[in-house]
Amino acid sequence: MGNGQLEGRVALITGGASGIGAGVAQVFAREGAHVVIGDLDFEAAKNFAAQLNDAGQNATGVRLDVTSRTEIDTAASEIERTVGSIDILVNNAGISTVRDFLDIDDHDWDSMMNVNLKGVLLTTQRILPGMINRKSGRIINISSMAGKQGLPRLAHYCATKFGVVGMTQSLAFETAPYNVTVNAVCPGVVRTPLWDDSANGILNDLDGENGWQAFVSGIPLGRPQSPEDMGFACLFFASDAGSNITGESLNVSGGQQVH
Ligand SMILES: NC(=O)c1ccc[n+]([C@@H]2O[C@H](COP(=O)([O-])OP(=O)(O)OC[C@H]3O[C@@H](n4cnc5c(N)ncnc54)[C@H](O)[C@@H]3O)[C@@H](O)[C@H]2O)c1
Repeated sequence: MGNGQLEGRVALITGGASGIGAGVAQVFAREGAHVVIGDLDFEAAKNFAAQLNDAGQNATGVRLDVTSRTEIDTAASEIERTVGSIDILVNNAGISTVRDFLDIDDHDWDSMMNVNLKGVLLTTQRILPGMINRKSGRIINISSMAGKQGLPRLAHYCATKFGVVGMTQSLAFETAPYNVTVNAVCPGVVRTPLWDDSANGILNDLDGENGWQAFVSGIPLGRPQSPEDMGFACLFFASDAGSNITGESLNVSGGQQVH
C-alpha cells in the first residue's frame, strides 16, 4: 500500500501496458491515482487495468496510438467523460531499434521520430489545454540516458530522446505561469520487451545476453533499474513533493549517467 500521495488524481500513461509504463502505473495506482493505461495494444491495456482493479485499485485501459491525433482525441474524450480530467500525463510510449548510422533508412528514422518525439507533441497538445484552464497539471516525459549521451548504433533513437529533453525544457517555460510542471525521467537500462521481444527487441541486434551485460557492467551501483524505479521518479514529479521543480531531466541510471 502507498501513502495516498496521488489520491483523487487521474493519470494517463501512454504505452502503459508494458515495461516502464506498467511500473509507473503500479506505483501511481498504489498511491491512490486512477490510472489510465493508454496503449497501442488495447488487449494488453485492458488486461493490465483489470489486474489492477482486481487488486482493489482504480484503472482503465484505452486504445491509444500516440502517432494519431484522431486516436488521441477519441481516447482523451472518453477518459474525460468516464473517468475525469487528466491531472497527470506520462508520455512513455516509445520504440527502439539498433542500426549502424549508414543503414538508418527512411522508415527507421520516420517511425522513431513519429512515436518517440512527435507522439509526445501530439499527446501533450491534446491534454495540456485542460491543465492550463484548471491552472494545475503535471507532465512527465520518459526520455533516456540516450537523451543526454550519444551511443553507437543508436543515432536515430538518441536524436528522439535528446529531442524529448529539449521539448521538456521549452514547454516548462511556457506552462510555468499556469502551474503546470513539465519534467523528464531518463532511465538507464530496464530489462523490458524493448530489449527482449523475440521479433523487435534490441538484443537481437546487440549480441543477445552479451549486449545486455555490456550495458549493465558499466553501472556504478552494479545493477540494472526496474520499472518500479522509474515509477518512484515519476511519483516524485507528480506528487506534492515535486511541486516546485520544472524543466528537469532526472537520471535514474544507478550512476551510469551523471549529468
Ligand atoms: N527499457 C529501457 O532500458 C529504457 C531505457 C531508457 C528509456 N526507455 C524508454 O522508456 C519507454 C518505455 O520503454 P519500455 O522499455 O517499457 O518498452 P516496452 O516495449 O516494454 O513498452 C512500450 C509500450 O509502448 C507501447 N507503444 C508502442 N508504440 C506505441 C504507440 N504508437 N502508441 C501507444 N503505445 C505504443 C507498446 O505497445 C508497449 O506497451 C520508451 O519511451 C523507451 O524509449 C527505456
